Amino acid sequence: MHVLLFGASGMIGQGVLRVCLDDPRVTSVRAVVRAPLGVAHPKLRELAHEDFTDFSALAAEFAGIDACFFCLGVSSAGRGQDEYRLITHDYTLAAARALPANPELTFTYVSGEGTDSTEKGRSAWARVKGRTENELLAMDFHGYMFRPGYIQPSHGERSRTRWYRWMYAAGSWLYPVLRRLAPKHVTTTENLGKAMLEVAGRRGAGEHILHSPDINRLATVTTP
Ligand SMILES: NC(=O)c1ccc[n+]([C@@H]2O[C@H](COP(=O)([O-])OP(=O)(O)OC[C@H]3O[C@@H](n4cnc5c(N)ncnc54)[C@H](OP(=O)(O)O)[C@@H]3O)[C@@H](O)[C@H]2O)c1
Repeated sequence: MHVLLFGASGMIGQGVLRVCLDDPRVTSVRAVVRAPLGVAHPKLRELAHEDFTDFSALAAEFAGIDACFFCLGVSSAGRGQDEYRLITHDYTLAAARALPANPELTFTYVSGEGTDSTEKGRSAWARVKGRTENELLAMDFHGYMFRPGYIQPSHGERSRTRWYRWMYAAGSWLYPVLRRLAPKHVTTTENLGKAMLEVAGRRGAGEHILHSPDINRLATVTTP
């Protein structure tokens, strides 16, 4: 499987990259990045890019991919609505539209728990994520929307978002507590990566909106 990865420098993307590089089903990973990742691996090729509203210059690099794992994204906290919509919706759709036409291709998108599929609720971030999901699900590929709640870094993956880093540093006790009290709302970076690889092999089958329990279940399936 040839994988195209967005957001490889982020907390989730680092975990997904690690799983992909370790998995024998993955032949290559092309990572679209703003800055070098500092990771050397024979399967990995970094594609440096600046304008995330236009990926036409990378069309030749996107040829032949089987799956696109889109882990790029930001928290809405401290951001204006226009900036949040640009990064969340416009960047994601620009990437999806730049992919080669192939109905067998899998596209995974990390939205988050609370995403508003109706696009009519009170929460602006949830409406933007909902719109992004809905437009991806209408496209001619196998779209899978990942809606994790709390995510535990499995191998020391670090968030690019400062207040997330503080939260993880201060709350090392949080994961075992949440896992016991609210297991339906908890997953890990490793499970996200494993579940993405699993849906990429499903060719459109099963649910297309996946919550933490679905992600954790998919992560335990190993399709040879
Ligand atoms: N972390 C969680 O607990 C959690 C839970 C549910 C959903 N999510 C969602 O999952 C997604 C990723 O989260 P994360 O925790 O991995 O975030 P993160 O650690 O903050 O990483 C963000 C990623 O997005 C890229 N990015 C941010 N702004 C960009 C921009 N303007 N242009 C290009 N690339 C940009 C970053 O690239 P650079 O390194 O170049 O900045 C980085 O690769 C987000 O949509 C988030 O809402 C996260």
